Amino acid sequence: MPVKLIEQKNVTLKIFDDRQEGCEYVAGQIQKLITEHNRLYKSTVLGLATGNTPKGVYKKLVEYHQRQQLSFNRVVTFNLDEYYPISAYHDRSYHTYMEHNLFNKVDVHPHHTFIPDGEVPEEELATYCENYDHQINHFGGVDIQLLGVGVNGHIGFNEPGSKISSTTRRVFLDEQTRHDAAPYFGEIDQVPRQAISMGVHTILKARKIICMAWGAKKATTVKEFFEDEITVQRPVSYLHTHPNVHLVLDKEAASQLELD
Ligand code: GLP
Repeated sequence: MPVKLIEQKNVTLKIFDDRQEGCEYVAGQIQKLITEHNRLYKSTVLGLATGNTPKGVYKKLVEYHQRQQLSFNRVVTFNLDEYYPISAYHDRSYHTYMEHNLFNKVDVHPHHTFIPDGEVPEEELATYCENYDHQINHFGGVDIQLLGVGVNGHIGFNEPGSKISSTTRRVFLDEQTRHDAAPYFGEIDQVPRQAISMGVHTILKARKIICMAWGAKKATTVKEFFEDEITVQRPVSYLHTHPNVHLVLDKEAASQLELD
């Protein structure tokens, strides 16, 4: 049963026919900002997500770069999360994902791409995570944060139960999340039980957040985003407290919303 969409002042909703159009729109927004900043010799700080959701965005950004329409020379990136423990060279690490989908194909400076290190010794984790947040601040904070959303309402790896005040830290993965990741790892036992994730507070400090969802599998999560109060059970609901959120959907993900 579709829900009536209550107007949300902070959320700009865009619905596209399919995910490709949605991804092209998001990539266009990023291209515009980088180009504007490049013209001013100013750096651009991007908060990046992994998973299936942003793949088309990265594909389009690579295309812009290959057509010489976009340089990442002044871009700094911070990824949301990484499994823990995991080697950067593991097929399924988010390091491998980012190299494969974006970093290897554009002119971003390797020293300007930050992804939580899945091999930090346990005793150094707390300091490491604190430092990750400091680094983001050091580069002036995130201009655009890309987000996907888990079926259970997680953002990054901030699983249900994550506090709005949380900063980058080690987290324990929800069984649903591990289940969703199992096909990529071969079987559930191969999926790490922990991760390092930017916290909710860290994410909400970004100047602009673009949250994307594609496909019928995310339709209930999207509906709940508009229906729910802000709740610790659905960390995506914390986005309601941010002044500049863009929710980009395809028709299927929006199928349970009743729009005027
Ligand atoms: C993963 C990631 C999230 C991602 C989400 C959705 O577990 N840690 O950052 O947004 O789950 O994944 P997908 O885009 O594949 O649906």
